[in-house]
Amino acid sequence: MNKTKSFPKDFLWGGAIAANQAEGAYLEDGKGLSTADLMPYGLMKGIQENSTDLNLYHEAVDFYHHYKEDIAMFAEMGFKVFRTSIAWSRIFPKGDELIPNEKGLEFYDNLFDELLTYGIEPIVTISHFETPWHLVKENGGWKNRKTIDHYIRYCETIFTRYKDKVKYWIGFNEINNIHTIPTAGGGILIEENENRLQAIYQASHHMFVASALATKLCQEIITDAKMGAMLSLSGVYPNTCHPDDVFETYELRRRSLFFSDVLLRGTYPSYINRIWDKHGVQVKMEGNDLELIKKHTADYLGFSYYRSTTHKAGTPILGHTGGITGTPNPFLESTSWGWQIDSKGLRYVCNELYDRYQKPLFIIENGMGTNDEIVNGEINDDYRIDYIKVHLKEMKEAIDDGVELMGYTYWGPIDIVSAGTGELKKRYGFIYVDRDNEGKGTFKRLKKKSFNWYKKVIETNGADL
Ligand code: BG6
Repeated sequence: MNKTKSFPKDFLWGGAIAANQAEGAYLEDGKGLSTADLMPYGLMKGIQENSTDLNLYHEAVDFYHHYKEDIAMFAEMGFKVFRTSIAWSRIFPKGDELIPNEKGLEFYDNLFDELLTYGIEPIVTISHFETPWHLVKENGGWKNRKTIDHYIRYCETIFTRYKDKVKYWIGFNEINNIHTIPTAGGGILIEENENRLQAIYQASHHMFVASALATKLCQEIITDAKMGAMLSLSGVYPNTCHPDDVFETYELRRRSLFFSDVLLRGTYPSYINRIWDKHGVQVKMEGNDLELIKKHTADYLGFSYYRSTTHKAGTPILGHTGGITGTPNPFLESTSWGWQIDSKGLRYVCNELYDRYQKPLFIIENGMGTNDEIVNGEINDDYRIDYIKVHLKEMKEAIDDGVELMGYTYWGPIDIVSAGTGELKKRYGFIYVDRDNEGKGTFKRLKKKSFNWYKKVIETNGADL
């Protein structure tokens, strides 16, 4: 058989951002507070409700007012798709209202129209680390079953409004991150004496039911829509070949894959019972929950992949998604933020997921965040080009391995605020934004060297790497 090593003709090239990390205008046109608005140091440090410290999310990179200029630049690079999220609290400021905020809806109408003018298809994340704060604080967020109703009302509103504009949807960003960052990832606050896993798995169950109902609704309202599940799935290897390291790493991986097992296969996997028993977890389910979950599975699996790490049996697991902590891999180099670069790991994960589900995969986040320096008015970010290049080469290998890949949306095609740490110095963009960690700068945009490089990648459908 001929080795093709090429991307499919209809491969969806583009970029991805999230509303809270880019838009700014955090209280403009009736928007309510979301969890992200209260995390000045990013989602790892979490909610600082009464803090008066500088919060870069509040103005972010002012995409709310610059989106036309930015989209024109994405179009110049040849984007076929652009992934962003709708800020839930722009549409329902507190989350539990019955009537949506028209101004918020108008903003996304304009944004999607602008994309479509250039032939760029929007991919929309319905909830990306930005649950309305009122829902979380006053209603218990996803721990409360009523949140399903609020979410579905929100979904129905946006599906109906944007049915002619948006075909690709994603229910929740990195749903498995509820383990690592429960407030950002799952819109819940864990109380001091609460059984953490009970709260996490109950909230997850509500999110699974909500996902099933949203998928059903989406397909009813938008006949050619595709609803994706989305996980954080950087790689994790056993630190040694000691069977304890190997098996514990397997279990660690399964904690993430549990989410895609439910969302793609439509059933709770048998291995979860032992974990629930061990931790005294009793998930309350109602009526036809399991039937709904079984019937309305996701159409594709989107995932983020940035890095890999290794796991040693018995070491604490803070992040379980392969990279937040872990034991460094001596064979890999790291970015200046300590993220280990592992392009082959991406091929590994693509194969792992495709073998498991045989559903189309979408790499909807991958990128290199680092500080860029302007020298004589230019940013020569060869390191970023190198990072992407090696990952794209491994994607080609994965395609040759038989993996069905729908597309690639590079994370942060324009500099945005970091989710993890709330800073602006950790830049991912092909487009530099003049805004720094002190909140200073003009918001002026500047193309980096990687801009024209990525443009060429798209032009040649990845043939010229
Ligand atoms: C993913 C998130 O986990 O990683 C994004 O979906 C985030 O929101 C991205 O920005 C990169 O992380 P960071 O901390 O470098 O912004």
